[in-house]
Amino acid sequence: MKRRELFKKMGIASVSVFMGSTILSSTKAIAQDTQQNKLIANRQKMSFADPKNPTKFELKHTPDISFGEKDPNGFTKVSITIGQTGIIHPTEENHWIDFLNIYKNDHLVSKMLLENGPIRGYADHYINLKSGDLLKVEIGCNLHGIWENTETFRV
Ligand SMILES: [Fe+2]
Repeated sequence: MKRRELFKKMGIASVSVFMGSTILSSTKAIAQDTQQNKLIANRQKMSFADPKNPTKFELKHTPDISFGEKDPNGFTKVSITIGQTGIIHPTEENHWIDFLNIYKNDHLVSKMLLENGPIRGYADHYINLKSGDLLKVEIGCNLHGIWENTETFRV
């Protein structure tokens, strides 16, 4: 009887500790999201002023899409870097790539949110592609808006 009561109390104590830590971690996550949202200052869609002569600033915000080998299941490796011609977008506490979306023929296939500071805008995926498929990558810079690039997959 005493043993049963002890287990009952332990169960309640465990549930209380679990719920307390869940509430605490949820509160931290919300505070972090709120802090980051304050830093996201630009959601304007951007484009090159002169497509034939893009500036370093424009190249720095344009996703670079490259296609690699196929895996054994026929999925093609797709590597995405934010920045073209070797100009990599910076990652700092107050300036970073905060999201990266990938569309295959206008259907969203990947949606990533990135934290400020420890990670730079980059992604590798294996995507089921056939020749002629369009791959569009859209990224958000918290200060300089939303940029995109589209590449056609050719076998
Ligand atoms: Fe930027």
